[in-house]
Amino acid sequence: MPSSVSVDLSSVALAVISDFYQRGKALPWRSNPPVPYHVWLSEIMLQQTRIEAVIPYFLRFIEKAPDIISLASLSEAELFKLWEGLGYYSRAANLQKTAKILVQKHGCALPRDYEALLSLPGIGPYTAGAISSIAFGLPTPAVDGNVLRFLARLTLYEDNILADKSKKYFTEMLKSVYLGKDVAALTQGLMEIGQYVCLPKNPRCELCPVANHCLAHREKRTNALPVRLAKKTRKKEDLTVFLIYDRAERLALQKRPESGLLANLYGLPTTSGTLCEQEISKALALYGISRFELLWKTSAVHIFTHAEWHMTGYALRVEALPSDWIGATKEELSSIYALPTAFKKLIPEEFL
Ligand code: ADE
Repeated sequence: MPSSVSVDLSSVALAVISDFYQRGKALPWRSNPPVPYHVWLSEIMLQQTRIEAVIPYFLRFIEKAPDIISLASLSEAELFKLWEGLGYYSRAANLQKTAKILVQKHGCALPRDYEALLSLPGIGPYTAGAISSIAFGLPTPAVDGNVLRFLARLTLYEDNILADKSKKYFTEMLKSVYLGKDVAALTQGLMEIGQYVCLPKNPRCELCPVANHCLAHREKRTNALPVRLAKKTRKKEDLTVFLIYDRAERLALQKRPESGLLANLYGLPTTSGTLCEQEISKALALYGISRFELLWKTSAVHIFTHAEWHMTGYALRVEALPSDWIGATKEELSSIYALPTAFKKLIPEEFL
């Protein structure tokens, strides 16, 4: 459990709100009272684009499409022209899809409800939280990468912030803090501190309104946090695996190499790549097998932590196994040789 309990989050929230009123940026979508359409549009534009770059696009957009109805009725060409330069055109397409839904089903307005917002195209948990707190004053946190970094340092959170559970953890943590606060200022204040003060490298703690609460600042560990361990992608491998039986129903096994996956275990003869029926003779010739009867073809996938095997299996019968190979009877397979599950997936139950 992280040490967040020792941070007075309510005092932090009040200091963030007060700082936002003193130093928050004046932006075209920040009006009093807020215009929900403007908040929504800005949040979609701000996904993957900096505030300064968004401003001219936002102004041009609302001039051409000043409300939800006019957004819904833009032609595709007009819409994409307005979006040109922002990239990620699917964001624009979803924006209009949602506008059409709002016109048809919600009286041309955004719903004042987190779950209802979340159900609309292009609106995920972060955007729904931002719109409902900024535009409607609902106590729904919006935790993006910048806010996450700020919170991780504040609470000396040592776990990986890129893990899915981290965003959920901090969103839950903030929910109780949001109750009874000026949530629009809190959401935007947190975003701004995350973006302009709590920088990824060399954060500007001298400007931070809550440096005196920050555990990473106190421990001089701001540059060591947050911990960001990217998910390792699994390596996908295509393999051809041979189930080679002799006349006595003994299955050929090979001891696996000393390093790599399933090191030192007994396995089935394997070659990399997916071989078709015409190609297996060549591979088998390398084993010294020139004559065989093809019994059946099969396939299976096995997922390891860091690898994925996509296996094509060929079951064959040969007169005799090469002399230096291990031939395991069905009994020996279960009592002596612990054949890894990946290989067992290719063998019919009656042969195990
Ligand atoms: N980044 C994304 N949305 C933002 C907002 N409303 N204010 C400041 N930064 C943001």
